[in-house]
Amino acid sequence: MPDKSAVTQYSAINFSKKYDLFSEQWTPKVIAQMNNYQFKVVKIEGDFIWHSHADTDETFIVLEGQLRIDFRDGAVMIEQGEMYVVPKGVEHKPYAEREVKLLLIEPAGVLNTGDEKSERTAVNDVWI
Ligand code: NI
Repeated sequence: MPDKSAVTQYSAINFSKKYDLFSEQWTPKVIAQMNNYQFKVVKIEGDFIWHSHADTDETFIVLEGQLRIDFRDGAVMIEQGEMYVVPKGVEHKPYAEREVKLLLIEPAGVLNTGDEKSERTAVNDVWI
């Protein structure tokens, strides 16, 4: 450790504190960026819309709750502490019976509803 007078305080990003900053659902918020990839926290409950992302895969990490992602030919259950990568171009529809807290990882500029426009389409690149 350097001399205390010369110490800079570096802060870790705390997921719980970020989730405490908002209560609305379906509105991903950017908490960090690595190169051109963004880390987004979001709370969702209920049904999303069918959509796909033509240009990128999409990573879902469940930090609290239980997420189901429906595909046209099946579904995956993602429990707390688990993750799943949806390949680009694959139609998917997230669903949460009760509120789930997610961490999404995807390139900057990706819309939450992919190639579809709907009332669920959230403003992009909102930092929290
Ligand atoms: Ni998606």
